[in-house]
Amino acid sequence: MKSNLFTKINIDPAKLPGHVAIIMDGNGRWAKKKLRNRVFGHEKGAETVREVITTCRELKIKILTLYAFSTENWSRPEKEVNTLMKLLKKFIRSEKDELHNKSIKLNVIGQKERLPIDVIEELDLAIEQTKDNTAMVLNLALSYGAREEITRAVRKIAYEAKQGKLFPEDIDEEMVSKYFYTAGMPDPDLLIRTSGEMRVSNFLLWQIAYSELFISETLWPDFTRDEFINILRDYQKRDRRFGKVLCS
Ligand code: IPE
Ligand code: IPE
Ligand code: MG
Repeated sequence: MKSNLFTKINIDPAKLPGHVAIIMDGNGRWAKKKLRNRVFGHEKGAETVREVITTCRELKIKILTLYAFSTENWSRPEKEVNTLMKLLKKFIRSEKDELHNKSIKLNVIGQKERLPIDVIEELDLAIEQTKDNTAMVLNLALSYGAREEITRAVRKIAYEAKQGKLFPEDIDEEMVSKYFYTAGMPDPDLLIRTSGEMRVSNFLLWQIAYSELFISETLWPDFTRDEFINILRDYQKRDRRFGKVLCS
């Protein structure tokens, strides 16, 4: 049955990315185009999130990391921040059983402690419920900023060095990455950004060193399963050289 699906969509399951990261952008512009307020765009965006999670699970992609709220997004008007937090809580509450049924493990990357207490509680319930799931990991980047992540890692390493728990000469790339929110996970193979913006906006700066980039012009609420599959097909055609010369 499953192999039928891959044949139907012309995807080679052996060449799928193990880790997909997405900068979900364009909710506000989508709503503006429809002469609606930004909240409407965020609500519609949540439906796209559901569809992308389902598609990743179906295709057996092991890790999906979604940029949902950046450290910089705290500077948006208080009303918009509050609405986003409410939507987040509602989303987690309504989706947690479905995530669990699909054997998806929920994980948060970012400053979880900065989120409102009721959102933290809802997240913690879902994290606890899904903690032993093995089919897929869903990383939600919340109050996430790569510079904060790197700074936090440096601070922890410095502290441990000061305590004599590690020696500066032992610090290598592998060790540094263990201090990130993404510790233990492979780097994203594919990074998608919607809404046509050609920037990474402080997302996973270290981890995307060799990710394949894909910028879609589509605004996030209009992003579909079909477009996602097209991107995966495009990804499969890329030569990932990692700085080396490919032997032919
Ligand atoms: C992405 O959509 C969602 C978040 C950043 C929370 P935006 O809200 O950034 O929408 P645009 O970029 O203003 O269209
Ligand atoms: C990036 O989008 C953050 C998220 C998608 C959560 P932004 O809309 O905040 O980024 P900029 O302001 O366009 O760089
Ligand atoms: Mg934006």
